Amino acid sequence: MTKRAILCGLVLAVVFGATAARAQEKLEIFSWWAGDEGPALKALIDRYEVLYPNIPVINSTVTGGSGVNARAVLKTRMLGGDPPDSFQVHAGQELIGTWVVANRMEDLTPLFKSEGWTEKFPPGLIALLSARGGIWSVPVNIHRSNVMWYVPANLKKWGVTPPKTWDEFLATCKTLQGKGVQYPLALGENWTQVHLWESVALGVLGPDGWSALWSGKMKFTDSSAVKAWDTFGSVLACTNPDASGLSWQQAVDRTLKGNAAFNIMGDWAAGYMSTTLKLKPGEGFGWAASPGTSGTFMMLSDSFGLPKGVKHHDAAVKWLKLLGSREGQDIFNPLKGSIAARLDSDLTKYNAYLNSAAKDWKSNKVVGSLAHGAVAPEIFASQFGTVMEIYLGGKNALAAANAAQAIADQVGLGK
Ligand code: GAL
Repeated sequence: MTKRAILCGLVLAVVFGATAARAQEKLEIFSWWAGDEGPALKALIDRYEVLYPNIPVINSTVTGGSGVNARAVLKTRMLGGDPPDSFQVHAGQELIGTWVVANRMEDLTPLFKSEGWTEKFPPGLIALLSARGGIWSVPVNIHRSNVMWYVPANLKKWGVTPPKTWDEFLATCKTLQGKGVQYPLALGENWTQVHLWESVALGVLGPDGWSALWSGKMKFTDSSAVKAWDTFGSVLACTNPDASGLSWQQAVDRTLKGNAAFNIMGDWAAGYMSTTLKLKPGEGFGWAASPGTSGTFMMLSDSFGLPKGVKHHDAAVKWLKLLGSREGQDIFNPLKGSIAARLDSDLTKYNAYLNSAAKDWKSNKVVGSLAHGAVAPEIFASQFGTVMEIYLGGKNALAAANAAQAIADQVGLGK
């Protein structure tokens, strides 16, 4: 073989080798944002593919509000040694109490430092993401849990206003029933019932009482915490009996169609109504803090983490960099119905609802959500579903309170 032929062969090998290596590069992200919940994630993926045209994105989703189904699939994959390159997880205890404790996640502190994120995110949020000397996920947003949604024209027609306390809500419920609105508050499947419970408990206990439950300073058997279950029971009497068969979107739809007057749901409902259904905030839908919680912002944050031993590490780091950037957050959040986790987002890109949320986020007292992973470890949060079943079965507030306290003791909540 001539020298020239050998050289040619080498060049070809290098070129084809590089192409093959590039062709193998890809990114698999895992989340529960599919269907109606998908557009914000899709916009972020589109941007990623523009920035990195050689890295195709595999968007693995497992449908089901609040990640109830996705978490189970993720568990199988993590334990089976097949982690996605990056996965959605709620900031806080949901990740820390599971995969961080199990030593399955990469510490992202170096990334936070190199990207300057320690100054770009609120200190309270960084604290929520931190444990055991590390920072464990990149927050893409801030959602609010304690929001009550309604259609302004419908309330006007029925002659009611958004109730400011739970007592006022119960009175409004009677008024509405008198006007033929049989089930004034639209409710959906099990996790949305926990979601409603946390708004009721926050309204009954106030922000300090609520936080005391999670730090272990207040017991679930405390008389005020038992009262939260009783109030919850009265509120349930104003909801549709077919709740367990409805997704959160279907519960929102009931309100929009005028079958119900109100729905309590996190502000991804604003994303659904404005992005998917194209309704104008303030006209097509209205909002207020859930009864008794004005001045308090019950927060949760969606974030993405980096499991140890992923197949496409560099591509995953690029993904995390995009979703932690100002540009990434301002692409994602206006569509998602959340505000940016960063402190420097461009609010002109956000609609009227989101601007009001951003204002409250700055000025309100902030507490964390149970239903969405902020305040309690996964093991408590998942067993709380059983506490809910116990309550729904017998409507016995003390039995539910005792069951919750037993789980809290068992998992060492607040310790
Ligand atoms: C929450 C999540 C939101 C939204 C919602 C409904 O837990 O943080 O981003 O997806 O579930 O599925």
